[in-house]
Amino acid sequence: MTAAESTAAERQQPTAAVMAPLLTGDRFRPERYHFFSVLDSTNRQAAQWARAGAPEGTVVVADQQTAGRGRLGRHWSSPAGVNLYCSIVLRPALSPREVAQLTLLTGLVLARTVTGMGVAGVEIKWPNDLLLNGRKLAGILTEARVDSSGVQYVVVGIGINLNGTDALLPPELRGKAIHLAELLRGMVDRPRFLADLLAQFDRGYGCFCQQGFGPLREEWLAFSRLLGRPVQVRMAAESFAGQALALDNEGCLLVQRADGGLTRVVAGDILFAEDE
Ligand code: BTN
Repeated sequence: MTAAESTAAERQQPTAAVMAPLLTGDRFRPERYHFFSVLDSTNRQAAQWARAGAPEGTVVVADQQTAGRGRLGRHWSSPAGVNLYCSIVLRPALSPREVAQLTLLTGLVLARTVTGMGVAGVEIKWPNDLLLNGRKLAGILTEARVDSSGVQYVVVGIGINLNGTDALLPPELRGKAIHLAELLRGMVDRPRFLADLLAQFDRGYGCFCQQGFGPLREEWLAFSRLLGRPVQVRMAAESFAGQALALDNEGCLLVQRADGGLTRVVAGDILFAEDE
């Protein structure tokens, strides 16, 4: 790709008009696709529309976010013109405890998409990070509304670093994040990437809805660098050290604690001891 072409690709926006011919599946239809030049948070907007009845397959994409949300109340750096910030509305027939599996599914979908571009070595870090060369390439924020009759909707938010640079990141993230373009010869074509991602999501989610996480587990494990490693687990109420033993069919992490006990981690963060 020449410099002129790469600049064009970098600037190309995944607007509704650009995306319409690329949205070929049944779930992500052009009429459910919404693009904003600037938004506070695509997850916030998608949740607002989901509360108002937006159907499954509604997609909200922004070129820039002014208040991008990460997990655990963190901020997601979202500069204009370079990366992808996308939220998907889902209405799965799941119990509340199964919702977290959608984060794992999305990690797998992202890993398949990136690998499909010829980029080797992508890793999924339980539960919601995608890493390349030990640096963060993408994050997933899954937010659901649950009431007495069950799961009303789920919003899966995806932030993926494509054409940005370290200089665009806040100082505390420099050296900790990676952008896909760093590993490719030229800039990533954002509309094409998004179309591939949504096609992969459509396929993976279809399989998940029919058969659950079980059949995807082995492939997920192959992308993760988790099992057998010493980890520090941070949960809402406690923090402990142990060894990651297994991922069960529901996507929960089984950790052998240093004190000998076994804990099933449904939601939390892990740190690899050797990274500290
Ligand atoms: C994380 O790693 O903490 C999750 C980051 C998720 C960021 C994405 S960007 C698109 C969507 N909208 C948001 O406000 N957050 C998610």
